[in-house]
Amino acid sequence: MTGLYDIGAIALTLLPPERGHQAALWGLSHGLGPSERADRHPSLAQTLWGRSFTNPVAISAGFDKNAVAISGARRLGAGFAEVGGITPRAQPGNPRPRLFRLTADRAAINRLGFNNHGAEAIARRIADYRAGGEDPWPLGVNLAANSDSSDPANDFEQLVDTFAPLADFLTIDISCPNSANGLVFLSPGPLEDLLGRLTALRDGKGLASPPALLVKIAPDIEDEALDVLLDIIVAAGIDGITVCNTTTARPDTLVSPDRTQRGGLSGKPLFARSTEMLHHVYQVTGGKVPLIGVGGISDGADAYAKIRAGASLVQLYTALVYEGPGLVARIQNELAALLAADGFATLQDAVGSEHRSSQVSTKITHRMNPKAPPP
Ligand SMILES: Cc1cc2nc3c(=O)[nH]c(=O)nc-3n(C[C@H](O)[C@H](O)[C@H](O)COP(=O)(O)O)c2cc1C
Repeated sequence: MTGLYDIGAIALTLLPPERGHQAALWGLSHGLGPSERADRHPSLAQTLWGRSFTNPVAISAGFDKNAVAISGARRLGAGFAEVGGITPRAQPGNPRPRLFRLTADRAAINRLGFNNHGAEAIARRIADYRAGGEDPWPLGVNLAANSDSSDPANDFEQLVDTFAPLADFLTIDISCPNSANGLVFLSPGPLEDLLGRLTALRDGKGLASPPALLVKIAPDIEDEALDVLLDIIVAAGIDGITVCNTTTARPDTLVSPDRTQRGGLSGKPLFARSTEMLHHVYQVTGGKVPLIGVGGISDGADAYAKIRAGASLVQLYTALVYEGPGLVARIQNELAALLAADGFATLQDAVGSEHRSSQVSTKITHRMNPKAPPP
Protein backbone atom coordinates (compact mmCIF):
# COMPACT_ATOMS: atom_id res chain seq x y z
CA MET A 1 0.00 0.00 0.00
CA THR A 2 1.29 3.47 -0.82
CA GLY A 3 1.56 5.52 2.38
CA LEU A 4 1.62 9.26 2.87
CA TYR A 5 5.39 9.24 3.22
CA ASP A 6 5.83 7.18 0.05
CA ILE A 7 3.74 9.75 -1.80
CA GLY A 8 5.97 12.46 -0.32
CA ALA A 9 9.03 10.52 -1.44
CA ILE A 10 7.65 10.19 -4.98
CA ALA A 11 6.96 13.93 -5.04
CA LEU A 12 10.59 14.58 -4.00
CA THR A 13 11.89 12.57 -6.94
CA LEU A 14 10.16 15.07 -9.25
CA LEU A 15 12.35 17.93 -7.99
CA PRO A 16 15.87 18.46 -9.36
CA PRO A 17 18.15 16.14 -7.30
CA GLU A 18 19.79 18.72 -5.04
CA ARG A 19 16.50 20.56 -4.36
CA GLY A 20 14.84 17.22 -3.61
CA HIS A 21 17.60 16.42 -1.13
CA GLN A 22 17.28 19.81 0.59
CA ALA A 23 13.49 19.36 0.81
CA ALA A 24 13.92 15.90 2.38
CA LEU A 25 16.34 17.29 4.98
CA TRP A 26 14.01 20.21 5.71
CA GLY A 27 11.12 17.76 6.23
CA LEU A 28 13.17 15.56 8.55
CA SER A 29 14.44 18.51 10.58
CA HIS A 30 10.84 19.78 10.99
CA GLY A 31 9.43 16.54 12.33
CA LEU A 32 7.98 15.22 9.05
CA GLY A 33 8.55 11.62 8.00
CA PRO A 34 7.81 8.32 9.68
CA SER A 35 8.28 7.79 13.39
CA GLU A 36 9.78 4.36 13.96
CA ARG A 37 11.44 2.65 16.89
CA ALA A 38 15.09 1.66 16.49
CA ASP A 39 14.93 -1.07 19.15
CA ARG A 40 12.05 -3.24 18.05
CA HIS A 41 14.20 -6.36 17.42
CA PRO A 42 16.44 -7.35 20.37
CA SER A 43 18.35 -9.75 18.08
CA LEU A 44 19.75 -6.73 16.18
CA ALA A 45 21.34 -5.11 19.25
CA GLN A 46 25.10 -5.11 19.84
CA THR A 47 27.84 -3.24 21.66
CA LEU A 48 30.68 -1.82 19.60
CA TRP A 49 33.45 0.54 20.71
CA GLY A 50 31.82 0.59 24.16
CA ARG A 51 28.58 1.97 22.72
CA SER A 52 25.13 0.34 22.46
CA PHE A 53 23.68 0.01 18.98
CA THR A 54 20.02 -1.06 19.06
CA ASN A 55 20.21 -1.99 15.38
CA PRO A 56 22.95 -1.87 12.73
CA VAL A 57 21.24 0.24 10.03
CA ALA A 58 21.97 3.93 9.35
CA ILE A 59 22.04 6.59 6.66
CA SER A 60 25.58 7.10 5.40
CA ALA A 61 27.75 10.21 5.31
CA GLY A 62 26.81 12.92 2.83
CA PHE A 63 23.08 12.83 3.53
CA ASP A 64 23.15 15.18 6.53
CA LYS A 65 26.38 17.03 5.87
CA ASN A 66 25.58 19.88 8.26
CA ALA A 67 24.00 17.91 11.13
CA VAL A 68 20.64 19.63 10.73
CA ALA A 69 18.46 16.52 10.97
CA ILE A 70 19.98 14.22 13.59
CA SER A 71 16.73 13.69 15.49
CA GLY A 72 14.85 13.22 12.22
CA ALA A 73 17.20 10.43 11.11
CA ARG A 74 16.72 8.83 14.50
CA ARG A 75 12.94 8.87 14.03
CA LEU A 76 13.34 6.86 10.81
CA GLY A 77 14.43 3.95 13.01
CA ALA A 78 18.18 4.19 12.33
CA GLY A 79 20.44 2.51 14.88
CA PHE A 80 23.02 5.30 14.68
CA ALA A 81 23.95 8.36 12.60
CA GLU A 82 26.92 9.67 10.66
CA VAL A 83 26.87 13.38 9.82
CA GLY A 84 29.29 15.23 7.52
CA GLY A 85 31.63 15.24 5.60
CA ILE A 86 32.81 18.28 7.46
CA THR A 87 35.84 20.38 6.57
CA PRO A 88 37.53 22.83 8.99
CA ARG A 89 36.36 25.89 7.04
CA ALA A 90 32.95 26.19 5.36
CA GLN A 91 33.18 25.65 1.60
CA PRO A 92 30.65 25.87 -1.24
CA GLY A 93 31.67 22.68 -3.06
CA ASN A 94 31.81 22.31 -6.84
CA PRO A 95 29.70 24.29 -9.34
CA ARG A 96 26.16 23.02 -10.02
CA PRO A 97 24.78 20.79 -11.41
CA ARG A 98 26.77 18.29 -9.37
CA LEU A 99 24.24 15.63 -8.36
CA PHE A 100 22.55 13.37 -10.92
CA ARG A 101 19.88 10.68 -10.58
CA LEU A 102 20.39 7.59 -12.72
CA THR A 103 16.83 6.41 -12.19
CA ALA A 104 16.80 3.43 -14.56
CA ASP A 105 19.99 2.17 -12.87
CA ARG A 106 18.77 2.87 -9.33
CA ALA A 107 21.97 4.89 -8.93
CA ALA A 108 23.35 8.42 -8.53
CA ILE A 109 26.49 10.28 -9.56
CA ASN A 110 27.69 13.16 -7.40
CA ARG A 111 30.59 15.56 -7.51
CA LEU A 112 29.42 17.80 -4.67
CA GLY A 113 32.97 18.36 -3.40
CA PHE A 114 32.26 18.62 0.34
CA ASN A 115 29.85 21.56 0.40
CA ASN A 116 29.33 22.16 4.14
CA HIS A 117 28.95 24.84 6.82
CA GLY A 118 32.39 24.22 8.38
CA ALA A 119 33.55 22.74 11.69
CA GLU A 120 32.67 25.58 14.03
CA ALA A 121 29.00 25.92 13.04
CA ILE A 122 28.42 22.18 12.84
CA ALA A 123 30.15 21.46 16.16
CA ARG A 124 27.80 23.99 17.77
CA ARG A 125 24.81 22.20 16.24
CA ILE A 126 25.99 18.80 17.49
CA ALA A 127 26.66 20.21 20.96
CA ASP A 128 23.09 21.61 20.99
CA TYR A 129 21.71 18.22 19.96
CA ARG A 130 23.71 16.55 22.75
CA ALA A 131 22.48 19.13 25.26
CA GLY A 132 18.88 18.42 24.16
CA GLY A 133 18.80 15.39 26.44
CA GLU A 134 17.68 12.68 24.00
CA ASP A 135 18.67 9.13 25.08
CA PRO A 136 22.21 8.20 24.13
CA TRP A 137 22.41 7.12 20.48
CA PRO A 138 25.68 6.53 18.64
CA LEU A 139 26.64 9.53 16.53
CA GLY A 140 29.48 9.48 14.03
CA VAL A 141 31.11 12.49 12.37
CA ASN A 142 32.68 12.22 8.92
CA LEU A 143 35.80 14.36 8.45
CA ALA A 144 37.47 15.74 5.31
CA ALA A 145 40.17 18.25 4.36
CA ASN A 146 39.26 21.56 2.68
CA SER A 147 39.81 21.30 -1.06
CA ASP A 148 42.10 24.37 -1.09
CA SER A 149 44.08 23.31 1.99
CA SER A 150 47.86 23.29 1.66
CA ASP A 151 48.17 20.98 4.69
CA PRO A 152 45.36 18.40 4.61
CA ALA A 153 46.86 16.40 7.52
CA ASN A 154 46.59 19.49 9.68
CA ASP A 155 42.95 19.87 8.60
CA PHE A 156 42.22 16.39 9.94
CA GLU A 157 44.02 17.22 13.19
CA GLN A 158 41.88 20.32 13.70
CA LEU A 159 38.75 18.26 13.03
CA VAL A 160 39.67 15.45 15.43
CA ASP A 161 40.46 18.07 18.05
CA THR A 162 37.05 19.73 17.59
CA PHE A 163 34.83 16.67 17.22
CA ALA A 164 36.44 14.06 19.52
CA PRO A 165 34.51 15.30 22.58
CA LEU A 166 31.22 15.34 20.63
CA ALA A 167 31.24 12.06 18.71
CA ASP A 168 31.01 8.32 19.34
CA PHE A 169 33.06 7.67 16.24
CA LEU A 170 35.01 9.81 13.78
CA THR A 171 35.41 8.69 10.18
CA ILE A 172 38.55 9.80 8.37
CA ASP A 173 37.39 10.04 4.78
CA ILE A 174 40.39 9.31 2.56
CA SER A 175 38.25 8.17 -0.36
CA CYS A 176 36.35 11.11 -1.87
CA PRO A 177 36.87 11.30 -5.65
CA ASN A 178 35.35 14.81 -5.90
CA SER A 179 37.73 17.07 -4.00
CA ALA A 180 41.32 18.18 -4.68
CA ASN A 181 42.52 16.72 -1.36
CA GLY A 182 40.07 13.79 -1.33
CA LEU A 183 42.48 11.00 -2.23
CA VAL A 184 45.95 12.18 -1.07
CA PHE A 185 46.03 9.74 1.87
CA LEU A 186 45.49 6.67 -0.27
CA SER A 187 49.31 6.44 -0.45
CA PRO A 188 51.12 4.42 2.24
CA GLY A 189 53.55 7.09 3.56
CA PRO A 190 51.04 9.93 3.98
CA LEU A 191 48.44 7.52 5.42
CA GLU A 192 50.81 6.10 8.03
CA ASP A 193 51.85 9.58 9.12
CA LEU A 194 48.25 10.82 9.25
CA LEU A 195 46.88 7.92 11.28
CA GLY A 196 49.80 8.11 13.75
CA ARG A 197 49.10 11.81 14.32
CA LEU A 198 45.34 11.39 14.66
CA THR A 199 45.39 8.44 17.06
CA ALA A 200 47.97 10.24 19.24
CA LEU A 201 45.84 13.38 19.25
CA ARG A 202 42.66 11.48 20.15
CA ASP A 203 44.42 9.48 22.88
CA GLY A 204 46.10 12.58 24.31
CA LYS A 205 42.85 14.43 24.94
CA GLY A 206 42.10 12.53 28.15
CA LEU A 207 38.44 12.01 27.28
CA ALA A 208 36.43 9.68 29.53
CA SER A 209 34.87 8.04 26.49
CA PRO A 210 37.07 8.78 23.48
CA PRO A 211 35.49 8.24 20.07
CA ALA A 212 36.42 5.30 17.86
CA LEU A 213 38.54 6.29 14.85
CA LEU A 214 37.44 4.81 11.52
CA VAL A 215 38.89 5.06 8.02
CA LYS A 216 36.63 5.10 4.95
CA ILE A 217 38.19 3.52 1.89
CA ALA A 218 37.55 3.76 -1.86
CA PRO A 219 36.41 0.94 -4.12
CA ASP A 220 38.77 1.95 -6.91
CA ILE A 221 41.92 0.35 -5.47
CA GLU A 222 43.59 -2.82 -6.67
CA ASP A 223 43.73 -5.59 -4.04
CA GLU A 224 47.53 -5.43 -3.71
CA ALA A 225 47.58 -1.68 -3.02
CA LEU A 226 44.61 -2.09 -0.70
CA ASP A 227 46.40 -4.73 1.35
CA VAL A 228 49.32 -2.34 1.94
CA LEU A 229 46.85 0.29 3.22
CA LEU A 230 45.06 -2.28 5.38
CA ASP A 231 48.36 -3.24 7.04
CA ILE A 232 48.93 0.42 7.89
CA ILE A 233 45.37 0.88 9.18
CA VAL A 234 45.60 -2.20 11.43
CA ALA A 235 49.10 -1.30 12.68
CA ALA A 236 47.88 2.19 13.60
CA GLY A 237 45.23 0.65 15.86
CA ILE A 238 42.30 2.08 13.87
CA ASP A 239 39.00 0.92 15.41
CA GLY A 240 36.93 0.37 12.28
CA ILE A 241 36.89 0.54 8.49
CA THR A 242 34.03 1.78 6.31
CA VAL A 243 33.81 -0.11 3.03
CA CYS A 244 33.27 1.91 0.87
CA ASN A 245 32.82 5.30 -0.79
CA THR A 246 31.46 6.01 -4.28
CA THR A 247 33.28 4.74 -7.39
CA THR A 248 34.74 6.49 -10.42
CA ALA A 249 34.20 3.27 -12.40
CA ARG A 250 31.27 3.09 -14.82
CA PRO A 251 29.97 -0.46 -15.23
CA ASP A 252 28.86 -1.36 -18.78
CA THR A 253 25.39 -2.13 -17.47
CA LEU A 254 24.53 1.57 -16.92
CA VAL A 255 21.80 2.85 -19.23
CA SER A 256 20.79 6.27 -17.82
CA PRO A 257 21.54 9.37 -19.91
CA ASP A 258 23.70 10.89 -17.14
CA ARG A 259 25.94 7.82 -16.78
CA THR A 260 28.96 9.64 -18.23
CA GLN A 261 28.84 12.54 -15.74
CA ARG A 262 32.05 13.03 -13.76
CA GLY A 263 31.97 12.11 -10.08
CA GLY A 264 31.31 9.18 -7.76
CA LEU A 265 28.74 6.55 -8.68
CA SER A 266 26.58 5.15 -5.86
CA GLY A 267 23.54 2.89 -5.55
CA LYS A 268 22.72 -0.54 -6.98
CA PRO A 269 25.62 -0.76 -9.48
CA LEU A 270 28.05 -0.35 -6.55
CA PHE A 271 26.65 -3.27 -4.57
CA ALA A 272 28.71 -6.11 -6.11
CA ARG A 273 32.07 -4.32 -5.99
CA SER A 274 31.58 -2.92 -2.49
CA THR A 275 30.47 -6.29 -1.11
CA GLU A 276 33.39 -8.07 -2.76
CA MET A 277 35.72 -5.51 -1.20
CA LEU A 278 34.08 -6.04 2.18
CA HIS A 279 34.74 -9.79 1.93
CA HIS A 280 38.35 -9.05 1.13
CA VAL A 281 38.85 -6.55 3.96
CA TYR A 282 37.25 -8.96 6.45
CA GLN A 283 39.54 -11.77 5.32
CA VAL A 284 42.69 -9.65 5.38
CA THR A 285 41.92 -8.17 8.81
CA GLY A 286 40.92 -11.58 10.16
CA GLY A 287 37.56 -10.30 11.35
CA LYS A 288 39.30 -8.39 14.15
CA VAL A 289 38.38 -4.85 13.07
CA PRO A 290 34.67 -3.92 13.03
CA LEU A 291 33.55 -3.00 9.52
CA ILE A 292 30.76 -0.77 8.23
CA GLY A 293 29.36 -2.12 4.97
CA VAL A 294 28.03 0.52 2.59
CA GLY A 295 27.36 0.56 -1.14
CA GLY A 296 24.18 -0.27 -3.04
CA ILE A 297 22.04 -1.54 -0.16
CA SER A 298 18.36 -1.29 -1.06
CA ASP A 299 16.66 -3.96 1.06
CA GLY A 300 17.13 -6.31 4.00
CA ALA A 301 18.69 -9.03 1.84
CA ASP A 302 21.41 -6.62 0.67
CA ALA A 303 22.10 -5.57 4.26
CA TYR A 304 22.21 -9.22 5.34
CA ALA A 305 24.70 -10.03 2.54
CA LYS A 306 26.98 -7.25 3.87
CA ILE A 307 26.71 -8.62 7.40
CA ARG A 308 27.50 -12.16 6.30
CA ALA A 309 30.44 -10.77 4.33
CA GLY A 310 31.80 -9.22 7.54
CA ALA A 311 30.03 -5.94 8.31
CA SER A 312 28.99 -5.24 11.90
CA LEU A 313 27.06 -2.14 10.81
CA VAL A 314 25.53 -1.10 7.48
CA GLN A 315 24.75 2.24 5.89
CA LEU A 316 22.87 3.40 2.82
CA TYR A 317 22.12 6.59 1.01
CA THR A 318 21.14 6.32 -2.68
CA ALA A 319 18.34 3.77 -2.21
CA LEU A 320 16.58 6.24 0.12
CA VAL A 321 16.04 8.47 -2.91
CA TYR A 322 14.17 5.71 -4.73
CA GLU A 323 12.53 3.83 -1.86
CA GLY A 324 11.60 6.68 0.48
CA PRO A 325 12.28 7.23 4.18
CA GLY A 326 10.39 4.08 5.29
CA LEU A 327 13.32 2.05 3.95
CA VAL A 328 15.41 2.25 7.13
CA ALA A 329 12.73 0.61 9.29
CA ARG A 330 11.87 -1.89 6.55
CA ILE A 331 15.48 -3.07 6.37
CA GLN A 332 15.53 -3.45 10.14
CA ASN A 333 12.45 -5.72 10.00
CA GLU A 334 13.70 -7.75 7.04
CA LEU A 335 17.11 -8.23 8.67
CA ALA A 336 15.59 -9.56 11.88
CA ALA A 337 13.50 -12.03 9.86
CA LEU A 338 16.51 -13.20 7.81
CA LEU A 339 18.61 -13.75 10.94
CA ALA A 340 15.82 -15.79 12.52
CA ALA A 341 15.25 -17.83 9.35
CA ASP A 342 18.94 -18.82 9.32
CA GLY A 343 18.90 -19.69 13.02
CA PHE A 344 21.12 -16.81 14.19
CA ALA A 345 20.13 -15.74 17.71
CA THR A 346 22.09 -12.50 17.47
CA LEU A 347 23.41 -10.21 14.79
CA GLN A 348 26.94 -10.79 16.03
CA ASP A 349 26.62 -14.52 15.23
CA ALA A 350 25.93 -13.65 11.60
CA VAL A 351 28.79 -11.14 11.14
CA GLY A 352 31.27 -12.70 8.70
CA SER A 353 29.35 -16.01 8.76
CA GLU A 354 29.90 -16.52 5.04
CA HIS A 355 33.60 -16.93 5.76
CA ARG A 356 32.95 -19.75 8.19
CA SER A 357 31.38 -22.00 5.56
CA SER A 358 34.27 -23.68 3.72
CA GLN A 359 32.30 -24.07 0.50
CA VAL A 360 31.43 -20.39 0.32
CA SER A 361 34.89 -19.20 1.27
CA THR A 362 36.37 -21.20 -1.63
CA LYS A 363 33.99 -19.35 -3.91
CA ILE A 364 35.01 -16.02 -2.39
CA THR A 365 38.70 -16.76 -2.83
CA HIS A 366 38.03 -17.61 -6.44
CA ARG A 367 36.08 -14.45 -7.05
CA MET A 368 38.72 -12.25 -5.40
CA ASN A 369 41.50 -13.93 -7.32
CA PRO A 370 40.46 -14.86 -10.86
CA LYS A 371 43.70 -16.86 -11.22
CA ALA A 372 42.73 -19.26 -8.43
CA PRO A 373 41.55 -22.68 -9.61
CA PRO A 374 37.75 -22.86 -9.84
CA PRO A 375 35.96 -24.43 -6.86
C1 LIG B 1 25.22 12.96 -2.71
C2 LIG B 1 26.24 12.16 -1.96
C3 LIG B 1 27.10 12.80 -1.09
C4 LIG B 1 28.05 12.06 -0.38
N1 LIG B 1 28.90 12.69 0.49
C5 LIG B 1 29.77 11.95 1.24
C6 LIG B 1 30.61 12.58 2.20
O1 LIG B 1 30.55 13.79 2.41
N2 LIG B 1 31.48 11.81 2.88
C7 LIG B 1 31.56 10.44 2.67
O2 LIG B 1 32.37 9.76 3.32
N3 LIG B 1 30.76 9.82 1.80
C8 LIG B 1 29.86 10.55 1.07
N4 LIG B 1 29.05 9.91 0.18
C9 LIG B 1 29.18 8.45 -0.02
C10 LIG B 1 28.14 7.67 0.79
O3 LIG B 1 28.31 7.87 2.17
C11 LIG B 1 28.23 6.17 0.47
O4 LIG B 1 29.52 5.71 0.84
C12 LIG B 1 28.00 5.87 -1.01
O5 LIG B 1 26.96 6.69 -1.53
C13 LIG B 1 27.60 4.41 -1.24
O6 LIG B 1 26.37 4.11 -0.60
P1 LIG B 1 24.96 4.02 -1.40
O7 LIG B 1 25.21 3.17 -2.60
O8 LIG B 1 24.00 3.41 -0.43
O9 LIG B 1 24.60 5.42 -1.74
C14 LIG B 1 28.10 10.64 -0.55
C15 LIG B 1 27.22 10.00 -1.42
C16 LIG B 1 26.29 10.74 -2.13
C17 LIG B 1 25.34 10.02 -3.06
